[in-house]
Amino acid sequence: MTATKIMPLNPAPDPGPDTREPGAIAPRPVLQVSGVDKIYGNGTVALKGADLTVKQGEFVSLLGPSGCGKSTLLRIMAGLGQVTTGNVRWWEQDYGVVGSRGRKLAFVFQNATLMPWARVRKNVRLPLDLEHAGKSEDVEQKIDDALGMVGLKGFDNSFPRELSGGMQMRASIARAMVTEPNLLLMDELRGA
Ligand SMILES: Nc1ncnc2c1ncn2[C@@H]1O[C@H](COP(=O)(O)OP(=O)(O)OP(=O)(O)O)[C@@H](O)[C@H]1O
Ligand SMILES: [Mg+2]
Repeated sequence: MTATKIMPLNPAPDPGPDTREPGAIAPRPVLQVSGVDKIYGNGTVALKGADLTVKQGEFVSLLGPSGCGKSTLLRIMAGLGQVTTGNVRWWEQDYGVVGSRGRKLAFVFQNATLMPWARVRKNVRLPLDLEHAGKSEDVEQKIDDALGMVGLKGFDNSFPRELSGGMQMRASIARAMVTEPNLLLMDELRGA
Protein backbone atom coordinates (compact mmCIF):
# COMPACT_ATOMS: atom_id res chain seq x y z
CA MET A 1 0.00 0.00 0.00
CA THR A 2 1.29 3.42 -0.82
CA ALA A 3 0.78 5.95 1.88
CA THR A 4 0.01 9.57 1.21
CA LYS A 5 2.03 12.44 2.57
CA ILE A 6 1.17 13.46 6.10
CA MET A 7 -1.62 16.01 5.86
CA PRO A 8 -2.10 17.92 9.10
CA LEU A 9 -5.81 18.72 9.16
CA ASN A 10 -5.39 21.47 11.68
CA PRO A 11 -3.35 24.05 9.82
CA ALA A 12 -1.72 26.57 12.07
CA PRO A 13 -4.18 29.37 12.84
CA ASP A 14 -3.37 32.92 11.88
CA PRO A 15 -0.89 33.91 14.60
CA GLY A 16 -2.28 37.45 14.69
CA PRO A 17 -0.20 40.48 15.61
CA ASP A 18 3.11 39.89 17.37
CA THR A 19 2.37 40.86 20.98
CA ARG A 20 5.70 39.80 22.40
CA GLU A 21 7.67 42.31 24.42
CA PRO A 22 10.28 44.13 22.34
CA GLY A 23 13.48 42.11 22.55
CA ALA A 24 11.65 38.91 23.54
CA ILE A 25 13.29 35.79 22.17
CA ALA A 26 11.24 33.91 19.57
CA PRO A 27 10.61 30.22 20.36
CA ARG A 28 13.44 28.18 18.92
CA PRO A 29 12.90 25.15 16.76
CA VAL A 30 13.36 22.00 18.81
CA LEU A 31 13.11 19.59 15.94
CA GLN A 32 13.06 19.96 12.19
CA VAL A 33 12.10 17.30 9.68
CA SER A 34 13.05 18.25 6.12
CA GLY A 35 12.13 16.50 2.90
CA VAL A 36 11.94 13.09 4.52
CA ASP A 37 11.09 10.07 2.39
CA LYS A 38 10.66 6.67 3.95
CA ILE A 39 10.52 3.61 1.77
CA TYR A 40 10.35 0.33 3.66
CA GLY A 41 12.30 -2.71 2.52
CA ASN A 42 9.24 -4.18 0.83
CA GLY A 43 8.90 -1.06 -1.34
CA THR A 44 6.10 0.63 0.59
CA VAL A 45 6.41 4.40 0.34
CA ALA A 46 5.34 5.48 3.81
CA LEU A 47 6.51 9.11 3.63
CA LYS A 48 7.28 11.37 0.71
CA GLY A 49 8.71 14.84 1.23
CA ALA A 50 7.60 15.16 4.87
CA ASP A 51 8.42 18.55 6.40
CA LEU A 52 7.70 19.50 9.97
CA THR A 53 9.15 21.98 12.42
CA VAL A 54 8.36 21.79 16.12
CA LYS A 55 9.17 24.84 18.20
CA GLN A 56 9.51 25.25 21.93
CA GLY A 57 6.15 25.27 23.68
CA GLU A 58 4.20 23.95 20.71
CA PHE A 59 1.57 21.21 20.80
CA VAL A 60 1.45 19.58 17.38
CA SER A 61 -1.04 16.96 16.18
CA LEU A 62 -0.54 14.81 13.10
CA LEU A 63 -3.88 13.87 11.62
CA GLY A 64 -4.45 11.70 8.59
CA PRO A 65 -6.01 8.46 7.41
CA SER A 66 -4.81 5.08 8.57
CA GLY A 67 -1.59 4.10 6.83
CA CYS A 68 -0.59 7.63 5.81
CA GLY A 69 2.66 7.45 7.77
CA LYS A 70 1.99 9.06 11.18
CA SER A 71 3.66 6.32 13.23
CA THR A 72 6.49 6.11 10.74
CA LEU A 73 7.19 9.82 11.11
CA LEU A 74 6.94 9.67 14.91
CA ARG A 75 9.38 6.77 15.01
CA ILE A 76 11.81 8.69 12.82
CA MET A 77 11.45 11.76 15.06
CA ALA A 78 12.21 9.56 18.06
CA GLY A 79 15.26 8.01 16.43
CA LEU A 80 13.59 4.60 16.33
CA GLY A 81 13.55 4.49 12.53
CA GLN A 82 15.90 5.61 9.76
CA VAL A 83 14.99 7.97 6.94
CA THR A 84 15.48 6.86 3.34
CA THR A 85 16.27 10.41 2.23
CA GLY A 86 15.99 13.81 3.87
CA ASN A 87 17.06 14.70 7.36
CA VAL A 88 15.95 15.31 10.91
CA ARG A 89 17.68 18.00 12.91
CA TRP A 90 17.61 18.53 16.63
CA TRP A 91 18.53 21.83 18.21
CA GLU A 92 20.38 22.95 15.13
CA GLN A 93 22.59 19.91 15.06
CA ASP A 94 22.46 16.94 12.78
CA TYR A 95 20.36 14.21 14.18
CA GLY A 96 23.04 11.57 13.83
CA VAL A 97 25.57 13.73 15.61
CA VAL A 98 23.44 14.57 18.62
CA GLY A 99 22.51 10.94 19.23
CA SER A 100 19.94 9.74 21.68
CA ARG A 101 21.85 10.89 24.76
CA GLY A 102 22.02 14.50 23.64
CA ARG A 103 18.31 15.12 23.90
CA LYS A 104 15.53 14.18 26.20
CA LEU A 105 12.48 12.81 24.57
CA ALA A 106 9.86 10.37 25.65
CA PHE A 107 7.75 8.19 23.42
CA VAL A 108 4.34 6.83 24.38
CA PHE A 109 3.43 3.88 22.20
CA GLN A 110 -0.04 3.06 20.93
CA ASN A 111 -0.17 0.20 23.45
CA ALA A 112 0.74 0.69 27.09
CA THR A 113 3.74 -1.71 26.90
CA LEU A 114 3.91 -2.01 30.71
CA MET A 115 5.88 -4.79 32.39
CA PRO A 116 3.05 -7.13 33.46
CA TRP A 117 5.01 -8.59 36.38
CA ALA A 118 5.82 -5.20 37.91
CA ARG A 119 3.60 -2.91 39.96
CA VAL A 120 2.63 0.51 38.61
CA ARG A 121 5.26 2.35 40.66
CA LYS A 122 8.03 0.09 39.37
CA ASN A 123 6.81 0.52 35.80
CA VAL A 124 6.81 4.29 36.12
CA ARG A 125 10.28 4.39 37.63
CA LEU A 126 11.79 2.19 34.88
CA PRO A 127 13.35 5.05 32.85
CA LEU A 128 14.85 6.50 36.03
CA ASP A 129 16.30 3.10 36.90
CA LEU A 130 17.77 2.92 33.42
CA GLU A 131 19.35 6.33 34.04
CA HIS A 132 20.68 4.96 37.37
CA ALA A 133 18.85 7.74 39.16
CA GLY A 134 19.10 5.91 42.49
CA LYS A 135 16.51 5.93 45.25
CA SER A 136 16.62 9.48 46.50
CA GLU A 137 13.57 11.33 47.84
CA ASP A 138 13.75 13.42 44.70
CA VAL A 139 13.17 10.34 42.56
CA GLU A 140 10.23 9.23 44.70
CA GLN A 141 8.77 12.74 44.41
CA LYS A 142 9.13 12.67 40.63
CA ILE A 143 7.23 9.37 40.52
CA ASP A 144 4.51 10.74 42.79
CA ASP A 145 4.21 13.85 40.61
CA ALA A 146 3.98 11.80 37.42
CA LEU A 147 1.33 9.51 38.90
CA GLY A 148 -0.60 12.51 40.18
CA MET A 149 -0.41 14.20 36.79
CA VAL A 150 -2.27 11.31 35.15
CA GLY A 151 -4.72 10.73 38.01
CA LEU A 152 -3.19 7.48 39.25
CA LYS A 153 -2.30 8.52 42.77
CA GLY A 154 -3.08 5.56 45.02
CA PHE A 155 -2.49 2.94 42.31
CA ASP A 156 1.26 2.60 42.94
CA ASN A 157 0.95 -0.95 44.16
CA SER A 158 -1.46 -2.22 41.54
CA PHE A 159 -0.34 -4.56 38.81
CA PRO A 160 -1.15 -3.50 35.22
CA ARG A 161 -3.74 -6.30 34.92
CA GLU A 162 -5.65 -4.67 37.79
CA LEU A 163 -6.04 -1.42 35.83
CA SER A 164 -8.49 -0.54 33.08
CA GLY A 165 -7.12 -0.08 29.57
CA GLY A 166 -7.26 3.70 29.92
CA MET A 167 -5.52 3.57 33.29
CA GLN A 168 -2.77 1.41 31.77
CA MET A 169 -2.27 4.02 29.06
CA ARG A 170 -2.10 6.73 31.71
CA ALA A 171 0.52 4.73 33.60
CA SER A 172 2.45 4.59 30.34
CA ILE A 173 2.17 8.39 30.04
CA ALA A 174 3.38 8.75 33.64
CA ARG A 175 6.39 6.57 32.74
CA ALA A 176 7.15 9.07 29.97
CA MET A 177 6.54 12.20 32.08
CA VAL A 178 8.74 11.04 34.95
CA THR A 179 11.81 11.74 32.82
CA GLU A 180 10.76 15.39 32.37
CA PRO A 181 11.33 15.20 28.62
CA ASN A 182 11.97 18.18 26.34
CA LEU A 183 9.73 16.55 23.76
CA LEU A 184 6.91 14.11 24.36
CA LEU A 185 5.84 12.03 21.36
CA MET A 186 2.56 10.15 21.66
CA ASP A 187 1.13 7.75 19.10
CA GLU A 188 -2.68 7.68 19.10
CA LEU A 189 -3.70 7.59 22.74
CA ARG A 190 -7.28 6.71 22.09
CA GLY A 191 -7.73 4.75 25.31
CA ALA A 192 -6.24 7.23 27.78
N1 LIG B 1 7.89 -2.20 9.10
C1 LIG B 1 7.19 -1.95 8.00
N2 LIG B 1 7.48 -2.58 6.85
C2 LIG B 1 6.80 -2.32 5.71
N3 LIG B 1 5.80 -1.42 5.64
C3 LIG B 1 5.45 -0.78 6.75
C4 LIG B 1 6.12 -1.00 7.99
N4 LIG B 1 5.56 -0.20 8.93
C5 LIG B 1 4.60 0.48 8.32
N5 LIG B 1 4.53 0.13 6.99
C6 LIG B 1 3.63 0.69 6.00
O1 LIG B 1 3.86 2.08 5.93
C7 LIG B 1 2.65 2.79 5.76
C8 LIG B 1 2.52 3.79 6.88
O2 LIG B 1 2.34 3.07 8.10
P1 LIG B 1 2.18 3.82 9.49
O3 LIG B 1 2.16 2.78 10.54
O4 LIG B 1 3.22 4.87 9.59
O5 LIG B 1 0.75 4.50 9.30
P2 LIG B 1 -0.17 5.31 10.33
O6 LIG B 1 -0.50 6.62 9.69
O7 LIG B 1 0.49 5.35 11.65
O8 LIG B 1 -1.46 4.41 10.36
P3 LIG B 1 -2.51 4.15 11.57
O9 LIG B 1 -3.36 5.40 11.68
O10 LIG B 1 -3.30 2.99 11.07
O11 LIG B 1 -1.72 3.84 12.83
C9 LIG B 1 1.56 1.74 5.70
O12 LIG B 1 1.27 1.51 4.33
C10 LIG B 1 2.17 0.52 6.33
O13 LIG B 1 1.67 -0.67 5.76
MG1 LIG C 1 -0.02 4.54 13.54
